[in-house]
Amino acid sequence: MSKILVTGGCGYIGSHTIVDLVENGYEVISVDNNSRSTSRIFEGIEKITGKKIKNYKVDLCNFDDTFAIFQENEDITGIIHFAAFKAVGESVEQPLMYFENNLVSLINLLKCVQEFNIPHFVFSSSCTVYGNPDKIPVTETTPPKPAESPYGYTKQMGEQIINEFSKANAAQCVLLRYFNPVGAHPSIMIGELPIGKPANLVPAITQTAIGKLPLMQVYGDDYDTRDGSCVRDFIHVSDIAHAHTLAIQFLEQGKSTKRCEVFNLGSGNGFTVLEAIKTFEKVSGVHLNYVIGPRRPGDVIAIYANNDFAVKTLGWKLKYSLEDMLLTAWKWEQRLKTDEKFYQSKPADLN
Ligand code: WQD
Repeated sequence: MSKILVTGGCGYIGSHTIVDLVENGYEVISVDNNSRSTSRIFEGIEKITGKKIKNYKVDLCNFDDTFAIFQENEDITGIIHFAAFKAVGESVEQPLMYFENNLVSLINLLKCVQEFNIPHFVFSSSCTVYGNPDKIPVTETTPPKPAESPYGYTKQMGEQIINEFSKANAAQCVLLRYFNPVGAHPSIMIGELPIGKPANLVPAITQTAIGKLPLMQVYGDDYDTRDGSCVRDFIHVSDIAHAHTLAIQFLEQGKSTKRCEVFNLGSGNGFTVLEAIKTFEKVSGVHLNYVIGPRRPGDVIAIYANNDFAVKTLGWKLKYSLEDMLLTAWKWEQRLKTDEKFYQSKPADLN
């Protein structure tokens, strides 16, 4: 059986990917220092899959501790690397923390890939590498533009490091550029656990709707878009997760014709912020308390993906609509509100 090391396995996309890998017959171990996550999420994974996942509580910036994981697990056949800081605003305030954390951890991992001859490496990248694209939808060959934040630069530099590494080593690599991952697993047993006031749109919506936040702001409605608010490509986190399993299978089946392949993981649909809010109100039946505020510095005006390459090459079939994304996000927020019973109850069904 293939054994996959998932870094950042206690995180939002990492935990959903572990569920998908296990459901597709993979053995999985996780490494996550829980600086931005909790291993309690593994209770939810066990409820869904029946499997207890081992997490190494290790900081990947510590080479010796990282190396020791590979010494203890000589049978790792692939790595999916999620672990990184990802708050755009925080990266502007603390650039060195972002460059050190996101790049040193990557380089330490790649040193282990080299030392232990790990054949497959999948990297969590982001549409942020495209900056403010001149033309949308963007394809994988859309030239990257200057990033809008140090976070975005760590993704661009991460891709370059992996590209050069793959030319000089046996490992075959895949870069997955996420658009806007949202929603929660349909069982509502795992979901997003933002720390502090959420920076991202959908947790801000659900926390405002449940009353955790008194009000939320739409950052600008004077952009040159159909309703003045920004356009984004929202994609269900479980669709994103399954694409990671498909990427590992793509590498295992020897289908990759390049040392390092890139895929856009977006739905291929662009919705505005205000359309997302209206859709949330429709599926939840909750009137959202929001005001139009000033633009947020660094925001891309409009971006969405051309996902043909991932659909065709990986056989990626998307399952969830924008309504599903927002309804699962809402149901997850409602479950969080009953946290003390959080992992005791049965998986909720959607309706
Ligand atoms: C989306 C839109 C905001 C909050 C970033 C990273 C990307 C990925 C996802 C990690 C924007 C608007 C938001 C709010 C709002 N990160 N908004 N009010 O910036 O597209 O992408 O997060 O994987 O790499 O770049 O996501 O959800 O923060 O913002 O109006 O309270 O929602 O202005 O137009 P973003 P977001």
